[in-house]
Amino acid sequence: MDTPWYQTYFGADYLSIYRLADTEDQLALLRRVLAPLAGGLIYDLPCGHGRHTGPLTRDGYRIVGLDLSETFLRVAQDRARTEGWPARLARADLRDLPLVHGRADAVICMFTSLGYFDDDREHAAVVVEFARLVRPGGRLVLDLANIDAVRMQPPTSSWTKDGVEVHSTYCFDESTKRAHTAREVRFPDGRQEHYESSVRLFEADELRGLFAIAGWHLDDQLGTYAGDPVTPHTPRRISLCTRS
Ligand SMILES: C[S@@+](CC[C@H](N)C(=O)[O-])C[C@H]1O[C@@H](n2cnc3c(N)ncnc32)[C@H](O)[C@@H]1O
Repeated sequence: MDTPWYQTYFGADYLSIYRLADTEDQLALLRRVLAPLAGGLIYDLPCGHGRHTGPLTRDGYRIVGLDLSETFLRVAQDRARTEGWPARLARADLRDLPLVHGRADAVICMFTSLGYFDDDREHAAVVVEFARLVRPGGRLVLDLANIDAVRMQPPTSSWTKDGVEVHSTYCFDESTKRAHTAREVRFPDGRQEHYESSVRLFEADELRGLFAIAGWHLDDQLGTYAGDPVTPHTPRRISLCTRS
């Protein structure tokens, strides 16, 4: 069987390719939402290379970050050592989280980290598991790309980051509601790589259904990290939920 794309995509090259320019805006949003939970236990799922885990830990939250990527976890560990924050990080699959139920004050799931699996039942099971992890009244921040904005994305785009040239081709499949992206990458030393991803995007009513089944009350949805309402043109659909 082929290795799923998300097991190899999130490595060192990813960090060279992407600008990840929204980190400060994402942190500002998280700080606004999590402010009533000062000092609380927050699960960062998945935590990637710790760009939210670190700053929020330094704010005084007890953050536990889990991710599938060994490379990203190593980057996060190095960052914790350099910056002097206690790293509570481990490798885990979202579908099999080694965490005690009912303990957390919140789960944060940032930057389109749900939608990678082939079977929608797995996506639904993750949203259910998030609900089991938090105490009643606990919060969920689920930050997904806005399917309407993705539909309008231009089919190609190119950019350069620190001498790394990226040419990206994208198509949205209405029958599966998946965005397929292929990226040709050329590094300054001449190395060339090809990366592909396939992400299921969710309609507003599909998300509402997932939250209802899982026991999440949907409090609000934001179209940007600055807090603008969702329109077909806003890049994000950030769901702010409370555990019923
Ligand atoms: C777009 S990144 C976002 C990471 C982080 N939330 C952030 O905003 O920086 C998606 C992350 O999902 C992780 N991931 C992919 N599939 C996973 C799985 N099955 N279980 C756990 N983590 C997974 C990847 O390793 C990657 O770190």
